[in-house]
Amino acid sequence: MSRLVVISNRVPLPDKSGAAPAGGLAVALQAALEERGGIWMGWSGKSTSGRETSGIDIREQGKITYALVDLSRKDVEEYYAGFANRVLWPLCHYRLDLTDYARKDMAGYFRVNRLFAQQLAPLIKPDDVIWVHDYHLIPLAAELRQMGLKNRIGFFLHIPWPPADVLFTLPVHETIMRGLASYDLVGFQTRHDAENFAGCLKREGIGKELGQGLFEAYGHVFRADVFPISIETAAFAEAARTSRRHALVGRMRQSLAGRDLIIGVDRLDYSKGITNRIEAFERFIVNNPDSRGRVTFLQVTPKSRSEVPEYGDMQRMVAELAGRVNGALSTVDWTPIRYVNRSIGRSVLAGLYRMAQVGLVTPLRDGMNLVAKEYVAAQDPENPGVLILSRFAGAARELDGALLVNPYDTDAVSDAIARALSMPIEARRERWNQMMPHLLENDVSHWCESFLKALAGHGETKGDERPA
Ligand code: G6P
Repeated sequence: MSRLVVISNRVPLPDKSGAAPAGGLAVALQAALEERGGIWMGWSGKSTSGRETSGIDIREQGKITYALVDLSRKDVEEYYAGFANRVLWPLCHYRLDLTDYARKDMAGYFRVNRLFAQQLAPLIKPDDVIWVHDYHLIPLAAELRQMGLKNRIGFFLHIPWPPADVLFTLPVHETIMRGLASYDLVGFQTRHDAENFAGCLKREGIGKELGQGLFEAYGHVFRADVFPISIETAAFAEAARTSRRHALVGRMRQSLAGRDLIIGVDRLDYSKGITNRIEAFERFIVNNPDSRGRVTFLQVTPKSRSEVPEYGDMQRMVAELAGRVNGALSTVDWTPIRYVNRSIGRSVLAGLYRMAQVGLVTPLRDGMNLVAKEYVAAQDPENPGVLILSRFAGAARELDGALLVNPYDTDAVSDAIARALSMPIEARRERWNQMMPHLLENDVSHWCESFLKALAGHGETKGDERPA
Protein backbone atom coordinates (compact mmCIF):
# COMPACT_ATOMS: atom_id res chain seq x y z
CA MET A 1 0.00 0.00 0.00
CA SER A 2 1.39 3.43 -0.95
CA ARG A 3 2.23 5.98 1.68
CA LEU A 4 -0.30 8.76 2.12
CA VAL A 5 0.59 12.44 2.22
CA VAL A 6 -2.12 14.80 3.47
CA ILE A 7 -1.87 18.57 3.13
CA SER A 8 -4.35 20.95 4.71
CA ASN A 9 -4.10 24.52 5.95
CA ARG A 10 -4.67 23.44 9.54
CA VAL A 11 -3.06 20.33 10.97
CA PRO A 12 -4.86 18.71 13.91
CA LEU A 13 -1.91 17.59 16.03
CA PRO A 14 -2.52 14.63 18.34
CA ASP A 15 -2.19 15.22 22.09
CA LYS A 16 0.76 13.93 24.12
CA SER A 17 -0.75 10.45 24.41
CA GLY A 18 -0.94 10.29 20.61
CA ALA A 19 -4.76 10.51 20.53
CA ALA A 20 -6.28 12.32 17.57
CA PRO A 21 -8.04 15.57 18.46
CA ALA A 22 -11.84 15.45 18.52
CA GLY A 23 -13.42 15.70 15.10
CA GLY A 24 -14.35 13.04 12.61
CA LEU A 25 -12.11 14.31 9.82
CA ALA A 26 -8.97 14.32 11.97
CA VAL A 27 -9.76 10.84 13.30
CA ALA A 28 -10.43 9.37 9.86
CA LEU A 29 -7.38 10.88 8.19
CA GLN A 30 -5.14 9.96 11.07
CA ALA A 31 -6.40 6.38 10.92
CA ALA A 32 -5.63 6.27 7.18
CA LEU A 33 -2.17 7.72 7.82
CA GLU A 34 -1.48 5.23 10.64
CA GLU A 35 -2.45 2.34 8.39
CA ARG A 36 -0.32 3.37 5.42
CA GLY A 37 2.30 5.49 7.09
CA GLY A 38 2.72 9.00 5.81
CA ILE A 39 2.95 12.72 6.26
CA TRP A 40 0.47 15.39 7.34
CA MET A 41 1.65 18.82 6.32
CA GLY A 42 0.22 22.30 6.79
CA TRP A 43 0.52 25.67 8.44
CA SER A 44 1.70 25.57 12.05
CA GLY A 45 -0.93 28.19 12.94
CA LYS A 46 1.89 30.49 14.02
CA SER A 47 3.10 33.58 12.26
CA THR A 48 6.64 34.84 12.54
CA SER A 49 7.12 38.54 13.18
CA GLY A 50 9.54 39.15 10.31
CA ARG A 51 8.64 39.38 6.67
CA GLU A 52 10.51 36.20 5.91
CA THR A 53 8.86 32.82 6.20
CA SER A 54 10.79 30.47 8.46
CA GLY A 55 11.45 26.76 8.07
CA ILE A 56 9.59 23.58 8.66
CA ASP A 57 9.06 21.78 11.96
CA ILE A 58 9.06 17.99 11.59
CA ARG A 59 7.56 15.79 14.32
CA GLU A 60 7.30 12.02 14.23
CA GLN A 61 4.43 10.29 15.98
CA GLY A 62 4.06 6.57 15.33
CA LYS A 63 3.88 6.04 11.59
CA ILE A 64 2.92 9.66 10.93
CA THR A 65 5.28 12.55 10.25
CA TYR A 66 3.80 15.96 10.97
CA ALA A 67 5.39 18.73 8.92
CA LEU A 68 4.44 22.20 10.15
CA VAL A 69 5.28 25.33 8.25
CA ASP A 70 5.46 28.72 9.99
CA LEU A 71 4.26 31.63 7.88
CA SER A 72 5.24 35.27 8.13
CA ARG A 73 2.64 37.78 9.25
CA LYS A 74 2.45 39.06 5.67
CA ASP A 75 1.84 35.52 4.39
CA VAL A 76 -0.99 34.97 6.86
CA GLU A 77 -2.59 38.30 6.02
CA GLU A 78 -2.47 37.79 2.27
CA TYR A 79 -2.87 34.05 1.87
CA TYR A 80 -5.19 33.12 4.76
CA ALA A 81 -7.07 36.24 5.87
CA GLY A 82 -6.89 37.84 2.41
CA PHE A 83 -7.33 35.63 -0.62
CA ALA A 84 -8.60 32.44 1.05
CA ASN A 85 -11.06 34.05 3.44
CA ARG A 86 -11.98 37.37 1.80
CA VAL A 87 -12.16 36.08 -1.78
CA LEU A 88 -12.51 32.32 -2.17
CA TRP A 89 -14.66 31.72 0.92
CA PRO A 90 -17.32 34.39 0.17
CA LEU A 91 -17.22 33.58 -3.56
CA CYS A 92 -17.79 29.85 -3.00
CA HIS A 93 -20.63 30.73 -0.61
CA TYR A 94 -22.28 32.91 -3.28
CA ARG A 95 -21.49 36.15 -1.41
CA LEU A 96 -20.17 38.46 -4.10
CA ASP A 97 -21.18 41.39 -1.88
CA LEU A 98 -18.51 40.32 0.66
CA THR A 99 -15.76 39.40 -1.81
CA ASP A 100 -12.80 41.78 -1.56
CA TYR A 101 -10.26 40.98 -4.25
CA ALA A 102 -6.78 42.50 -4.04
CA ARG A 103 -3.87 41.60 -6.31
CA LYS A 104 -1.42 41.53 -3.45
CA ASP A 105 -3.53 38.97 -1.55
CA MET A 106 -3.81 36.87 -4.67
CA ALA A 107 0.00 37.00 -5.09
CA GLY A 108 0.41 36.01 -1.42
CA TYR A 109 -1.92 33.03 -1.92
CA PHE A 110 0.09 31.70 -4.85
CA ARG A 111 3.37 32.48 -3.06
CA VAL A 112 2.40 30.45 0.01
CA ASN A 113 1.20 27.57 -2.16
CA ARG A 114 4.59 27.56 -3.91
CA LEU A 115 6.30 27.63 -0.53
CA PHE A 116 4.26 24.62 0.65
CA ALA A 117 5.20 22.79 -2.56
CA GLN A 118 8.91 23.62 -2.08
CA GLN A 119 8.83 22.39 1.51
CA LEU A 120 6.90 19.27 0.61
CA ALA A 121 8.67 18.11 -2.57
CA PRO A 122 11.87 16.83 -0.87
CA LEU A 123 9.78 14.70 1.52
CA ILE A 124 7.88 12.92 -1.27
CA LYS A 125 8.72 9.41 -2.52
CA PRO A 126 7.79 8.41 -6.09
CA ASP A 127 4.82 6.17 -5.20
CA ASP A 128 3.32 8.35 -2.44
CA VAL A 129 -0.34 9.24 -2.87
CA ILE A 130 -0.97 12.93 -2.15
CA TRP A 131 -4.31 14.27 -0.85
CA VAL A 132 -4.77 18.05 -0.69
CA HIS A 133 -7.65 19.58 1.29
CA ASP A 134 -9.73 22.68 0.75
CA TYR A 135 -9.76 26.08 -0.87
CA HIS A 136 -6.55 27.37 0.73
CA LEU A 137 -4.44 25.02 -1.37
CA ILE A 138 -5.99 24.79 -4.85
CA PRO A 139 -2.73 25.66 -6.74
CA LEU A 140 -0.60 23.11 -4.86
CA ALA A 141 -0.73 20.31 -7.45
CA ALA A 142 0.19 22.68 -10.29
CA GLU A 143 3.23 23.80 -8.27
CA LEU A 144 4.24 20.21 -7.52
CA ARG A 145 3.81 19.22 -11.17
CA GLN A 146 6.07 22.10 -12.20
CA MET A 147 8.73 20.64 -9.94
CA GLY A 148 8.39 17.40 -11.87
CA LEU A 149 6.32 15.30 -9.42
CA LYS A 150 4.42 12.51 -11.17
CA ASN A 151 2.54 11.15 -8.12
CA ARG A 152 -1.23 10.64 -7.92
CA ILE A 153 -2.57 13.87 -6.43
CA GLY A 154 -6.16 14.31 -5.27
CA PHE A 155 -8.02 17.39 -4.04
CA PHE A 156 -11.13 17.55 -1.89
CA LEU A 157 -13.10 20.77 -1.58
CA HIS A 158 -14.89 20.96 1.77
CA ILE A 159 -16.95 24.02 0.80
CA PRO A 160 -19.45 24.60 -2.03
CA TRP A 161 -18.35 25.24 -5.62
CA PRO A 162 -20.18 28.15 -7.28
CA PRO A 163 -21.77 28.38 -10.73
CA ALA A 164 -19.79 29.91 -13.63
CA ASP A 165 -21.49 33.33 -13.37
CA VAL A 166 -20.24 33.66 -9.81
CA LEU A 167 -16.77 32.16 -10.34
CA PHE A 168 -16.04 34.28 -13.40
CA THR A 169 -16.25 37.47 -11.33
CA LEU A 170 -12.90 36.38 -9.92
CA PRO A 171 -10.18 38.00 -12.05
CA VAL A 172 -7.89 34.96 -11.70
CA HIS A 173 -10.58 32.31 -12.23
CA GLU A 174 -8.63 30.74 -15.11
CA THR A 175 -5.58 30.17 -12.89
CA ILE A 176 -7.80 28.63 -10.23
CA MET A 177 -9.44 26.33 -12.82
CA ARG A 178 -6.02 25.41 -14.19
CA GLY A 179 -4.98 24.61 -10.62
CA LEU A 180 -7.87 22.20 -10.19
CA ALA A 181 -7.25 20.59 -13.57
CA SER A 182 -3.72 19.69 -12.41
CA TYR A 183 -5.06 17.08 -9.98
CA ASP A 184 -5.86 13.48 -10.89
CA LEU A 185 -9.06 13.56 -8.85
CA VAL A 186 -11.14 16.53 -7.69
CA GLY A 187 -13.76 15.71 -5.06
CA PHE A 188 -16.85 17.75 -4.23
CA GLN A 189 -19.42 17.43 -1.46
CA THR A 190 -22.51 17.24 -3.66
CA ARG A 191 -23.59 16.52 -7.21
CA HIS A 192 -24.71 20.15 -7.42
CA ASP A 193 -21.14 21.39 -6.74
CA ALA A 194 -19.70 18.94 -9.28
CA GLU A 195 -22.21 20.15 -11.87
CA ASN A 196 -21.30 23.77 -11.17
CA PHE A 197 -17.66 22.84 -11.70
CA ALA A 198 -18.43 21.08 -14.99
CA GLY A 199 -20.39 24.19 -16.01
CA CYS A 200 -17.36 26.40 -15.27
CA LEU A 201 -15.14 24.17 -17.41
CA LYS A 202 -17.52 24.16 -20.34
CA ARG A 203 -18.66 27.79 -20.30
CA GLU A 204 -15.59 29.43 -21.81
CA GLY A 205 -14.35 26.30 -23.52
CA ILE A 206 -11.77 25.82 -20.76
CA GLY A 207 -12.28 22.09 -20.86
CA LYS A 208 -14.56 19.31 -21.99
CA GLU A 209 -16.37 16.42 -20.37
CA LEU A 210 -15.19 13.02 -21.63
CA GLY A 211 -17.88 11.00 -19.83
CA GLN A 212 -17.75 8.74 -16.77
CA GLY A 213 -16.60 11.60 -14.56
CA LEU A 214 -13.55 12.35 -16.71
CA PHE A 215 -12.65 15.82 -17.94
CA GLU A 216 -9.93 17.27 -20.11
CA ALA A 217 -8.59 20.78 -19.58
CA TYR A 218 -5.26 22.48 -20.15
CA GLY A 219 -3.95 19.29 -21.72
CA HIS A 220 -4.62 17.17 -18.63
CA VAL A 221 -7.23 14.41 -18.16
CA PHE A 222 -8.63 14.18 -14.65
CA ARG A 223 -11.65 12.89 -12.75
CA ALA A 224 -14.17 15.01 -10.85
CA ASP A 225 -16.62 13.25 -8.56
CA VAL A 226 -18.82 13.47 -5.49
CA PHE A 227 -17.73 12.34 -2.00
CA PRO A 228 -20.12 13.63 0.68
CA ILE A 229 -18.14 13.96 3.90
CA SER A 230 -19.55 12.53 7.11
CA ILE A 231 -18.92 11.93 10.81
CA GLU A 232 -17.90 9.02 13.00
CA THR A 233 -21.55 8.10 13.33
CA ALA A 234 -21.38 5.11 15.69
CA ALA A 235 -18.83 6.76 18.03
CA PHE A 236 -20.84 9.98 18.15
CA ALA A 237 -24.07 8.11 18.89
CA GLU A 238 -22.29 6.29 21.71
CA ALA A 239 -20.93 9.56 23.12
CA ALA A 240 -24.48 10.93 23.17
CA ARG A 241 -25.84 7.78 24.82
CA THR A 242 -23.31 7.99 27.63
CA SER A 243 -23.30 11.77 27.95
CA ARG A 244 -25.28 11.72 31.21
CA ARG A 245 -22.05 11.19 33.12
CA HIS A 246 -21.02 14.76 32.33
CA ALA A 247 -22.07 17.04 35.17
CA LEU A 248 -22.61 19.89 32.70
CA VAL A 249 -25.15 17.87 30.75
CA GLY A 250 -27.04 17.22 34.00
CA ARG A 251 -26.90 20.88 34.99
CA MET A 252 -28.18 21.90 31.57
CA ARG A 253 -31.14 19.55 31.86
CA GLN A 254 -31.91 20.90 35.31
CA SER A 255 -31.70 24.48 34.17
CA LEU A 256 -34.23 23.82 31.43
CA ALA A 257 -36.80 22.92 34.09
CA GLY A 258 -38.90 20.90 31.63
CA ARG A 259 -38.79 23.46 28.81
CA ASP A 260 -38.26 22.31 25.24
CA LEU A 261 -34.79 22.90 23.85
CA ILE A 262 -33.86 24.05 20.36
CA ILE A 263 -30.15 23.88 19.55
CA GLY A 264 -27.97 25.62 16.96
CA VAL A 265 -24.19 25.08 16.76
CA ASP A 266 -22.01 26.97 14.28
CA ARG A 267 -18.72 28.74 13.89
CA LEU A 268 -19.45 32.47 13.92
CA ASP A 269 -19.63 32.81 10.14
CA TYR A 270 -21.97 34.81 7.89
CA SER A 271 -22.60 31.69 5.79
CA LYS A 272 -24.34 30.03 8.74
CA GLY A 273 -27.44 32.25 8.68
CA ILE A 274 -27.36 32.90 12.43
CA THR A 275 -29.14 36.26 12.30
CA ASN A 276 -31.87 34.86 10.04
CA ARG A 277 -32.26 31.99 12.48
CA ILE A 278 -32.60 34.25 15.52
CA GLU A 279 -35.22 36.27 13.67
CA ALA A 280 -37.11 33.09 12.80
CA PHE A 281 -37.03 31.99 16.44
CA GLU A 282 -38.32 35.40 17.51
CA ARG A 283 -41.12 35.13 14.91
CA PHE A 284 -42.00 31.69 16.25
CA ILE A 285 -42.31 32.97 19.82
CA VAL A 286 -44.34 36.00 18.72
CA ASN A 287 -46.66 33.89 16.53
CA ASN A 288 -47.10 31.18 19.17
CA PRO A 289 -47.84 32.93 22.46
CA ASP A 290 -48.24 29.54 24.22
CA SER A 291 -44.55 28.89 23.66
CA ARG A 292 -43.50 31.86 25.82
CA GLY A 293 -41.63 30.61 28.83
CA ARG A 294 -41.74 27.05 27.46
CA VAL A 295 -38.99 26.95 24.86
CA THR A 296 -35.26 27.72 25.14
CA PHE A 297 -33.04 28.29 22.13
CA LEU A 298 -29.37 27.49 22.77
CA GLN A 299 -27.07 28.92 20.12
CA VAL A 300 -23.45 27.77 20.55
CA THR A 301 -21.20 29.91 18.37
CA PRO A 302 -17.43 29.90 18.84
CA LYS A 303 -15.74 32.98 17.37
CA SER A 304 -13.91 32.44 14.14
CA ARG A 305 -11.48 34.30 11.83
CA SER A 306 -11.72 37.45 13.92
CA GLU A 307 -8.85 38.98 11.92
CA VAL A 308 -11.15 39.17 8.87
CA PRO A 309 -13.27 42.39 9.07
CA GLU A 310 -16.53 40.78 7.88
CA TYR A 311 -16.34 38.34 10.80
CA GLY A 312 -15.96 41.16 13.33
CA ASP A 313 -19.05 42.83 11.82
CA MET A 314 -20.93 39.56 12.06
CA GLN A 315 -19.95 39.09 15.71
CA ARG A 316 -21.41 42.48 16.56
CA MET A 317 -24.59 41.89 14.55
CA VAL A 318 -25.36 38.54 16.15
CA ALA A 319 -24.59 39.76 19.67
CA GLU A 320 -26.82 42.83 19.20
CA LEU A 321 -29.66 40.82 17.73
CA ALA A 322 -29.57 38.14 20.45
CA GLY A 323 -29.50 40.91 23.05
CA ARG A 324 -32.40 42.80 21.46
CA VAL A 325 -34.60 39.68 21.15
CA ASN A 326 -33.85 38.64 24.72
CA GLY A 327 -34.60 42.15 25.95
CA ALA A 328 -37.90 42.20 24.10
CA LEU A 329 -39.12 38.70 25.01
CA SER A 330 -37.51 37.68 28.32
CA THR A 331 -39.44 37.48 31.55
CA VAL A 332 -37.80 37.52 34.96
CA ASP A 333 -37.68 33.73 35.02
CA TRP A 334 -37.18 32.93 31.32
CA THR A 335 -34.44 33.90 28.87
CA PRO A 336 -35.47 32.71 25.40
CA ILE A 337 -32.00 32.70 23.78
CA ARG A 338 -28.85 31.40 25.43
CA TYR A 339 -26.05 32.67 23.25
CA VAL A 340 -22.66 31.09 23.96
CA ASN A 341 -19.47 32.33 22.27
CA ARG A 342 -17.22 29.42 23.06
CA SER A 343 -16.71 25.91 21.81
CA ILE A 344 -18.02 22.95 23.79
CA GLY A 345 -16.26 19.57 24.01
CA ARG A 346 -17.66 16.92 21.72
CA SER A 347 -19.05 14.56 24.34
CA VAL A 348 -20.94 17.33 26.16
CA LEU A 349 -22.15 18.63 22.82
CA ALA A 350 -23.41 15.15 21.94
CA GLY A 351 -25.43 15.21 25.19
CA LEU A 352 -26.89 18.63 24.40
CA TYR A 353 -27.95 17.48 20.93
CA ARG A 354 -29.67 14.48 22.47
CA MET A 355 -31.50 16.69 24.95
CA ALA A 356 -32.76 19.04 22.24
CA GLN A 357 -36.19 18.45 20.72
CA VAL A 358 -35.10 20.42 17.67
CA GLY A 359 -31.77 20.77 15.84
CA LEU A 360 -31.91 24.08 13.97
CA VAL A 361 -29.35 24.00 11.15
CA THR A 362 -30.11 26.81 8.73
CA PRO A 363 -27.00 27.95 6.85
CA LEU A 364 -27.51 30.26 3.87
CA ARG A 365 -24.99 28.10 2.01
CA ASP A 366 -22.86 25.22 3.30
CA GLY A 367 -20.63 22.60 1.70
CA MET A 368 -22.02 19.79 3.85
CA ASN A 369 -22.71 20.78 7.49
CA LEU A 370 -21.67 18.09 9.91
CA VAL A 371 -23.71 19.54 12.79
CA ALA A 372 -26.81 18.27 10.97
CA LYS A 373 -25.34 14.76 10.83
CA GLU A 374 -24.16 14.91 14.44
CA TYR A 375 -27.59 16.01 15.63
CA VAL A 376 -29.22 13.00 13.96
CA ALA A 377 -26.56 10.57 15.25
CA ALA A 378 -26.97 11.85 18.82
CA GLN A 379 -30.71 11.20 19.08
CA ASP A 380 -32.38 8.69 21.37
CA PRO A 381 -33.84 6.11 18.94
CA GLU A 382 -36.93 5.75 21.18
CA ASN A 383 -37.62 9.46 21.38
CA PRO A 384 -35.70 11.32 18.68
CA GLY A 385 -35.81 15.05 18.09
CA VAL A 386 -36.47 16.72 14.75
CA LEU A 387 -33.83 18.19 12.46
CA ILE A 388 -34.76 21.43 10.70
CA LEU A 389 -32.28 21.78 7.86
CA SER A 390 -31.55 24.42 5.25
CA ARG A 391 -32.06 23.23 1.71
CA PHE A 392 -28.81 25.07 0.91
CA ALA A 393 -26.64 22.78 3.05
CA GLY A 394 -24.98 19.88 1.25
CA ALA A 395 -26.39 17.60 3.96
CA ALA A 396 -29.92 18.29 2.66
CA ARG A 397 -29.11 15.99 -0.28
CA GLU A 398 -28.80 13.06 2.10
CA LEU A 399 -30.90 13.82 5.18
CA ASP A 400 -34.33 13.34 3.70
CA GLY A 401 -35.97 12.80 7.08
CA ALA A 402 -35.30 16.44 8.05
CA LEU A 403 -37.79 19.29 7.72
CA LEU A 404 -36.16 21.15 4.85
CA VAL A 405 -36.47 24.92 4.92
CA ASN A 406 -35.43 27.99 3.00
CA PRO A 407 -33.45 29.95 5.61
CA TYR A 408 -34.26 33.26 3.89
CA ASP A 409 -37.97 32.66 4.56
CA THR A 410 -38.41 33.69 8.20
CA ASP A 411 -42.08 32.66 8.30
CA ALA A 412 -41.31 29.22 6.88
CA VAL A 413 -38.56 28.57 9.44
CA SER A 414 -40.85 29.80 12.22
CA ASP A 415 -43.59 27.42 10.98
CA ALA A 416 -41.08 24.55 10.81
CA ILE A 417 -40.13 25.14 14.46
CA ALA A 418 -43.80 24.98 15.45
CA ARG A 419 -44.27 21.81 13.40
CA ALA A 420 -41.16 20.15 14.84
CA LEU A 421 -42.10 20.90 18.44
CA SER A 422 -45.56 19.40 18.03
CA MET A 423 -44.58 16.42 15.89
CA PRO A 424 -45.95 13.08 17.22
CA ILE A 425 -43.42 10.50 18.33
CA GLU A 426 -44.23 8.02 15.51
CA ALA A 427 -43.50 10.64 12.86
CA ARG A 428 -40.27 11.60 14.61
CA ARG A 429 -39.15 7.98 14.79
CA GLU A 430 -40.02 7.41 11.16
CA ARG A 431 -38.03 10.46 10.05
CA TRP A 432 -35.04 9.49 12.18
CA ASN A 433 -35.11 5.90 10.88
CA GLN A 434 -35.04 7.31 7.37
CA MET A 435 -31.66 8.93 8.09
CA MET A 436 -29.70 6.99 10.70
CA PRO A 437 -28.95 3.77 8.73
CA HIS A 438 -27.62 5.91 5.88
CA LEU A 439 -25.34 7.80 8.29
CA LEU A 440 -24.10 4.59 9.90
CA GLU A 441 -23.21 3.13 6.54
CA ASN A 442 -21.79 6.32 5.05
CA ASP A 443 -19.57 7.48 7.89
CA VAL A 444 -16.31 9.41 7.66
CA SER A 445 -14.17 6.27 7.27
CA HIS A 446 -16.30 5.27 4.30
CA TRP A 447 -15.76 8.76 2.85
CA CYS A 448 -12.01 8.54 3.35
CA GLU A 449 -11.75 5.06 1.84
CA SER A 450 -13.88 5.87 -1.19
CA PHE A 451 -11.85 8.98 -1.99
CA LEU A 452 -8.54 7.12 -1.67
CA LYS A 453 -9.86 4.23 -3.75
CA ALA A 454 -10.95 6.61 -6.49
CA LEU A 455 -7.60 8.39 -6.31
CA ALA A 456 -5.78 5.11 -6.74
CA GLY A 457 -7.90 4.64 -9.84
CA HIS A 458 -10.12 1.84 -8.56
CA GLY A 459 -13.21 3.79 -7.55
CA GLU A 460 -16.48 3.83 -9.44
CA THR A 461 -18.06 7.02 -10.64
CA LYS A 462 -21.00 7.70 -8.41
CA GLY A 463 -24.47 8.89 -9.22
CA ASP A 464 -26.49 10.90 -6.72
CA GLU A 465 -25.35 11.14 -3.11
CA ARG A 466 -28.26 9.07 -1.94
CA PRO A 467 -29.26 6.00 -3.93
CA ALA A 468 -33.03 5.81 -4.36
C1 G6P B 1 -14.32 25.28 7.26
C2 G6P B 1 -13.26 25.00 6.23
C3 G6P B 1 -12.01 24.41 6.88
C4 G6P B 1 -11.57 25.29 8.03
C5 G6P B 1 -12.70 25.49 9.03
C6 G6P B 1 -12.34 26.42 10.20
O1 G6P B 1 -14.85 24.10 7.74
O2 G6P B 1 -13.76 24.13 5.22
O3 G6P B 1 -10.97 24.29 5.93
O4 G6P B 1 -10.43 24.77 8.66
O5 G6P B 1 -13.80 26.05 8.34
O6 G6P B 1 -11.91 27.67 9.73
P1 G6P B 1 -10.45 28.24 10.04
O7 G6P B 1 -10.34 29.44 9.16
O8 G6P B 1 -10.45 28.57 11.49
O9 G6P B 1 -9.46 27.17 9.70
